[in-house]
Amino acid sequence: MALLRTREIEHLYSTASCAVVLSEVSKQYGQKEAIAPLSLTINPGERVAFLGPSGGGKTTLLRILSGQLESSTGTVLLCDRDLAKMPTGREVSQLVGMIHQQFDLVPNLSALQNVLAGQLGEWSLLKSLVSLVWPLNRCIGLSALARVGVEGIAYQRAGSLSGGEQQRVAIARLLVQNPQVILADEPVSSLDPARAGEVLQLLVSIADEAGKTLVASMHSVELAREHFSRLIGLRNGAVIFDLPSHEVTEDMLHDLYDLKGLRAEA
Ligand SMILES: Nc1ncnc2c1ncn2[C@@H]1O[C@H](COP(=O)(O)OP(=O)(O)OP(=O)(O)O)[C@@H](O)[C@H]1O
Ligand SMILES: [Mg+2]
Repeated sequence: MALLRTREIEHLYSTASCAVVLSEVSKQYGQKEAIAPLSLTINPGERVAFLGPSGGGKTTLLRILSGQLESSTGTVLLCDRDLAKMPTGREVSQLVGMIHQQFDLVPNLSALQNVLAGQLGEWSLLKSLVSLVWPLNRCIGLSALARVGVEGIAYQRAGSLSGGEQQRVAIARLLVQNPQVILADEPVSSLDPARAGEVLQLLVSIADEAGKTLVASMHSVELAREHFSRLIGLRNGAVIFDLPSHEVTEDMLHDLYDLKGLRAEA
């Protein structure tokens, strides 16, 4: 039993990663082109941040990568598999997991129950329903909460947690899901700067420990530069730059956010 538990917990940190390959992917909403046709490869274990002004297409692109949104054209390969041809649910959740801006925790369930929901893709309906009453595999859930530094709030209602605690619970849930590619949509936008740095560091170190591929959208250029090795600037659904972080200049950032125009008007 003890051996089994150790193995189960090791599953949280198992090493695996895979590439994400987009070919001519676009997204059209009626007349609006949210994503212009784009092709790019994200290598296994890479840490990539999408930057750019509001409406630039960051969330749309992440949702396409997560399989939640179908692209209008093109293909997405995750670990050499065509995302559009994969059955939704369990198989996709083993490959890719996403942390949303609003964390998507169920407020009336405990932090632990929310974390264990990371396994739902792998469980039968009966097991899932039983887990709502009596958390199964609590050992794995508690270990994940401990890893993100909030084991003390395991039995607290998710709805009563602070923004930072909710964010950590969402990361713990992702640890339990254990996908090969981690996507995060503005993972720290609701946190104060000190908390934001800490949580981002946590996310990055979890991805690094297991060699996972990490792709996030970020509003803070400073945090993106600090924690991500590659920055992709998106504006009006088009890639404005795609460079190693240290090669992105202030001028490129001004162009991306169109600050030059604003300065000229001032
Ligand atoms: N369901 C939808 N129907 C129509 N248009 C949409 C829909 N979802 C997104 N869009 C449009 O697609 C464009 C890209 O939106 P998206 O949410 O990807 O931007 P974003 O870069 O994430 O912005 P933000 O920084 O504000 O989160 C926007 O112009 C948006 O209005
Ligand atoms: Mg967005």
